[in-house]
Amino acid sequence: MTSSLPSNTPSRSCLAVVLAAGEGTRMKSSKPKVLHEIANRSMLGHVLATVTEAGADRVAVVIGPDRDDVARDAHRQVPDAEIFVQRERLGTGHAVLSARDALARRPDDVIVVYADTPLVSLETLARLRAPLAQGAAVVSLGFEARDPTGYGRLIMSGDELLDIREHKDASEAERAIRLCNGGLMALRGDVALAILEKIENRNAKQEYYLTDAVAIARSLGHRAVAATVPEEEVHGVNDRAQLAQAERMIQERLRQAAMADGVTLVAPETVFFSHDTRLGRDVIVEPHVVFGPGVVVEDGAVVHSFSHLEGTHVAPQAGIGPFARLRPGAEIGPKAKIGNFVEIKNTQLGAGAKVSHLTYLGDANIGADVNIGAGAITCNYDGFGKYRTEIGEGAFIGSNSSLVAPLKIGAGAFVGSGSVVTEDVPADALALGRGRQVVKEEWARNFRVKSQAAKSK
Ligand code: UD1
Ligand code: CA
Repeated sequence: MTSSLPSNTPSRSCLAVVLAAGEGTRMKSSKPKVLHEIANRSMLGHVLATVTEAGADRVAVVIGPDRDDVARDAHRQVPDAEIFVQRERLGTGHAVLSARDALARRPDDVIVVYADTPLVSLETLARLRAPLAQGAAVVSLGFEARDPTGYGRLIMSGDELLDIREHKDASEAERAIRLCNGGLMALRGDVALAILEKIENRNAKQEYYLTDAVAIARSLGHRAVAATVPEEEVHGVNDRAQLAQAERMIQERLRQAAMADGVTLVAPETVFFSHDTRLGRDVIVEPHVVFGPGVVVEDGAVVHSFSHLEGTHVAPQAGIGPFARLRPGAEIGPKAKIGNFVEIKNTQLGAGAKVSHLTYLGDANIGADVNIGAGAITCNYDGFGKYRTEIGEGAFIGSNSSLVAPLKIGAGAFVGSGSVVTEDVPADALALGRGRQVVKEEWARNFRVKSQAAKSK
């Protein structure tokens, strides 16, 4: 993938200015728009990941007033991101200028991206930057719009970008142009501040338009050009429906990437990934599987249908599900088998262990080749604290046992079915924690005869 990137970009310093001030009232949400998640990562997180992968060595995030939550989210992804507050919403040009201190350091390249436009790719950012190294002062990102209403129009003359006209300010003839502004822009760092400071707000919206940077650059004798992308990449998110569309597109990319890396997805459209899901070679994922954050599945493992995994590590050749739920801290050993209706949390399971049906294991260490019978559970919680269960290698836990933690069961030990085990069991011992079976000969027949007689009186 990286071989297609222009070779000049890595050596140039690059500041990414990320506009993240949008409140997003159409989301009808108590949280800011850019913190809504796609594939378990905020839109802001996606954009920050892309700009850093694209070689931005400094990141400035422009946020609205009192948005510590947005600042914290930015720092999770990029710990040394600089946060700038845009106090009043006076337009995209004004928003970029909020990061004046970062711009004043004159990086080689400046890229301006929107946190609510999360699908922009690494390759696109590289193409946006590339003309700067050839001397262009401004590069805008254009796309052919199915419906150009509302977008700024790119006014071109051959390869030169002459101006960008906002829809509200455009003439009829200009509104007929379908090449639209995707919003993202690259500026040459040595002239960016000089250009941005000349932007005025004499237009239909009385805003400081970033798009005016094009005409200003030209008036100062610089060149402006455009890079173009398919419309999907500049898909902006303003409401929940557009959020779902962005989710669909990112899921599709994650599925394609997994298959390209040697994963079999039997029905890719039914498998949902997290941005950080890592699957090894020859992993097979059956239909209808959901991966939450923090999952690694190693080579040759199979995830059967209707399983839900998060915060989980699955070693090579293990089998998961169908209908398994693996929660954070589940570590499944090589060739271990987890069957249907099994929930596992914060538990290490050794190689070749089998937990085939209807089981809850929480806060446990399970040795290699242990067999856990159907319906066995760890009682790890007493309403106040959580306690661990340790089961040694090769132990056999009979069906429907309750293992009351804290508890240690030695290697090779045997727990009889239906036991409530409250005390440690030594290695190779048998533990029975249940009432002895009582058999009363003829009891049932006598009961029926007596009852029948009483009824027919
Ligand atoms: C902008 C472009 C338009 C382009 C469109 C693509 C300008 C003047 N217009 O228009 O040419 O076709 O994007 O979607 O740039 N923002 C701030 N502070 C502000 C204003 C905006 O941070 O004061 C942020 C918004 O949160 C958003 C982005 O900048 O992420 C774009 O702002 P928006 O108001 O949506 O711009 P448009 O009018 O759609
Ligand atoms: Ca917009």
